[in-house]
Amino acid sequence: MPFPSDTTPDTEVFDLIDREVERQCTGLQLIASENFTSPAVMKAVGSALTNKYAEGYPGKRYYGGNAIVDEIEALAIARVKSLFGAEHANVQPHSGANANMCAYQAVLDPGDTVLGLSLDHGGHLTHGSPVNVSGKLYHFVAYKVTPGDERIDMEQVRDLAIEHRPKLIVAGTTSYPRRLDPEPFKAIADEVGAMLMFDAAHIAGLIAGGVAPNPVPYADIVTFTTHKTLRGPRGGCILAKAEHAAAIDKAVFPGWQGGPLEHVIAGKAVAFFEASQPSFRAYAGQVVANASALAEALVLHGFRLVSGGTDNHLMVVDLRPFDADLTGKQAQAVLDVAGITLNKNTIPDDPRSPFVTSGVRIGTPSVTTQGMGAAEMGEIAGLIARALRQRADDGELARVRADVNVLCSRFPAYS
Ligand SMILES: Cc1ncc(COP(=O)(O)O)c(C=O)c1O
Repeated sequence: MPFPSDTTPDTEVFDLIDREVERQCTGLQLIASENFTSPAVMKAVGSALTNKYAEGYPGKRYYGGNAIVDEIEALAIARVKSLFGAEHANVQPHSGANANMCAYQAVLDPGDTVLGLSLDHGGHLTHGSPVNVSGKLYHFVAYKVTPGDERIDMEQVRDLAIEHRPKLIVAGTTSYPRRLDPEPFKAIADEVGAMLMFDAAHIAGLIAGGVAPNPVPYADIVTFTTHKTLRGPRGGCILAKAEHAAAIDKAVFPGWQGGPLEHVIAGKAVAFFEASQPSFRAYAGQVVANASALAEALVLHGFRLVSGGTDNHLMVVDLRPFDADLTGKQAQAVLDVAGITLNKNTIPDDPRSPFVTSGVRIGTPSVTTQGMGAAEMGEIAGLIARALRQRADDGELARVRADVNVLCSRFPAYS
């Protein structure tokens, strides 16, 4: 029987997809949590594996016909364990948020005390924000960055740990430009008898590529997303010490999720393979080098960087010294017109609301995948400064848009 779309193509959806591909490829993609995934990953995600129900785990499914799917999921598990040196892996979380909630459910009871980085200082919603279920189910206590150097205040982490005796300490960031060292967190966790969870959502690709410290030897549980610096399909993953393996698996299924997305798990397997290749190490190194180059160039244009710079793939720009009237919200909107995509972001102790903000977050994973280097980072900083400085001039914004087009056409994301 033919599919309806065989005879009546769904041009409405596919025209929109074509427009989105064009948007991605003709503009600068500077959102720190995004990337261009490979055609191989997209082929897996677009495969017939989407047809299969596979509740359970390899060798223990609730449905028949899973012999091949078992091999795929087992391959993904073996690859990610080898990539990070983990004792146990669960590749089924549909997203980073799910991975975190599953991890909490595995080791916490409702009401347990947890330490996490404050959202407005670079943490994630799932690290105890009151508007997120993590903040409703568990008693989160927030640590912050210092007012001086704007780096995570490890003395405060220790003081809060001693005062509150958390069952779990969460290390992990969404908009923090500095190296996140797992070792001091582990020392504090040990001192107060807490478990340590490391949320590596943003930096998983940097860890795999050898340019950020691997938390796996230190943390009881490591969660991450597969679609950011790791450059895989949209999804989550949990690594754990063997002693937590059964609890983690139970928390994912049947705890939080139903049938796993085996097409996405196949895409994760491809991404884990790609991340194990020597060329990925070069990629990760270039992501960090590009972020440093972009940060330096932005400073030359009068921007202030939170913490003074970056050690990783992103920077948080305080717009106030550049232009006291310019908000993050306005900057995001103006740059959108100029074909430069990034997101507004709070700066530590931001006087403006999270919907307005005084900053923007900028990341280099996507432009690095396109093959851009230090010279292009200088160009990008200039384009950003031009657009923001002359934001009232539509003609200048159109000229920046045209220059962005030319730059992107020199570095096509996909051939
Ligand atoms: C640190 C951190 N954890 C978790 C998540 C959630 O990931 P997802 O959007 O896939 O749910 C993010 C996403 O930005 C993140 O930055």
